[in-house]
Amino acid sequence: MNRPISPLQRARIDFAAKLPAVFTEHGAHVAADVAATVPLVADQKGIPEQFPHTGGLPFVAFRGGDTTDRSALNVAVILSGGQAPGGHNVIAGLFDGLKSLSVDSRLYGFKGGPDGLVANDYVELTAKFVDAYRNTGGFDMIGSGRGKLEDEDQYRKVRSNCEALGITGIVVIGGDDSNTNACVLAEFFCKDDAGISVIGCPKTIDGDLKNGAIETSFGFDTACKEYSDVIGNVARDAASARKYWHFIKLMGRSASHITLECALQTQVNIALISEEVENRDQTLDDVVTEITQVIVKRSEQGRNYGVALVPEGLIEFIPEIKILIRELNDLLAATPVSLARDLAASESVDALGQLGLTPSSAAVYRSLPDSIRHQLVKDRDPHGNVHVSSIETEKLLIEMVGARLTSMKAAGEYGGKYATQHHFFGYEGRCAMPSNFDANYSYSLGYSAAALLGTGKTGYISCVRNLTAPPEQWQPGGVPATAMMNIEQRKGKAVPVIQKALVELDGAPFKAFSKQRENWSIDDCYLFPGAIQYFGPADLCDATPHTLALEQQ
Ligand code: FBP
Repeated sequence: MNRPISPLQRARIDFAAKLPAVFTEHGAHVAADVAATVPLVADQKGIPEQFPHTGGLPFVAFRGGDTTDRSALNVAVILSGGQAPGGHNVIAGLFDGLKSLSVDSRLYGFKGGPDGLVANDYVELTAKFVDAYRNTGGFDMIGSGRGKLEDEDQYRKVRSNCEALGITGIVVIGGDDSNTNACVLAEFFCKDDAGISVIGCPKTIDGDLKNGAIETSFGFDTACKEYSDVIGNVARDAASARKYWHFIKLMGRSASHITLECALQTQVNIALISEEVENRDQTLDDVVTEITQVIVKRSEQGRNYGVALVPEGLIEFIPEIKILIRELNDLLAATPVSLARDLAASESVDALGQLGLTPSSAAVYRSLPDSIRHQLVKDRDPHGNVHVSSIETEKLLIEMVGARLTSMKAAGEYGGKYATQHHFFGYEGRCAMPSNFDANYSYSLGYSAAALLGTGKTGYISCVRNLTAPPEQWQPGGVPATAMMNIEQRKGKAVPVIQKALVELDGAPFKAFSKQRENWSIDDCYLFPGAIQYFGPADLCDATPHTLALEQQ
């Protein structure tokens, strides 16, 4: 059945994604230059021992001039974790790259993420199949999932599924955890002499998979442009109606890159950056004070309206709440399910205290509004922990700021009006049609993954650098995943993981923001970026994220 498509969808399918010159000239039939790897994290203790085969590999950059014959490759691809605009283009780039090596190459899409690889649930991706998804948003081409490839039974199943199809390469399109698992799988296959290479591709709207070698993850640009469009609209509505403070929570499970990027794009009045809150050891009360001060100052100028951005991960970066959450996790894990349910129902602070909540955490817990206490105790993630990302921080702040303003009013310290609206922008941005930047970048990442497989590499993450230059000048290659790893404690065990990139407070993007934010807080300096533009002048259509441009200045 032919599905109906919109005129813009049709136009985007016909858009020819751009590639770095080396691929335009030679396809994926390229030579790999190698250079000594500089570790990308400060402490690599323990990593070489855990990765005897894939540790210490060199950086790879591609150039033309390879004349060796290439045989056809059979390759598996999976999408892993949350959706990010550009996923379909990674697959399209991989497909085209493999076909440029040999028209007999075959690509198999395993469905629903890592679980599909284990369950052998796949579809062969033909040209017709791939063409229908070029430059489209979403991961619906083969689906995604948050399953994990973590144990040797799974690895053996994956190996036998691959052997049945003659697959000698697997491409994992995912975030930090998925790419870590991909590298562990690569190491296992090397040890077992399985003859299967594993390559990763850096995906996540959160923007936290980046370092000295990976300039950004695909999807971040589009998601931030989508959010900035609507934040700009909300700001204009606020300035028009002059009666609401809008509190907008923005996605980004942990790091505040999305909030920082959107703040730079829209120049709204308040943008909280979790990393700064933690660095300044701020309490929830301090955060409330900071927001309240801006609201009071603006009201003194007759502006009883404004926009505040709240990163999704904020709550976990407030030191006292972090401790409370840790204690609640331990306490509820050691509590029989029925009792935990009773506690959740009664929300009794004393009962929690009896079970072991320390007096300081009990006090923090008691200071929270009912609705938030309820979310903390009742909502659990699949591991039984507090479901941090579902906590409605924007509502928590609205309520606490409201209470503070009420007491200030009673004391004659505030004479303004405080009416609010709350929003959460998250899922709206994850499946948007990729911006030109993301369409080109993700297509090039897929192509580069094909070139890595073509040159026999394993344990690498596909990477494309020099991204603020036009795509022809981009530099594709590969970076060994182990160079980004350190040892961290996860569920009580010391394990190798790719280090998550948090907002750097001494980095250019944060500095640019902190230099301006006072002006933006009191005056109306809003920018209205508008909807993503796909066709038109390059400065409008091909712009990179502001953070990337600032980082590369
Ligand atoms: P990834 O890290 O897998 O790319 O996902 C990021 C993200 O979009 C976060 O911003 C958000 O907190 C989370 O996924 C939501 O997860 P889910 O889709 O499972 O609700």
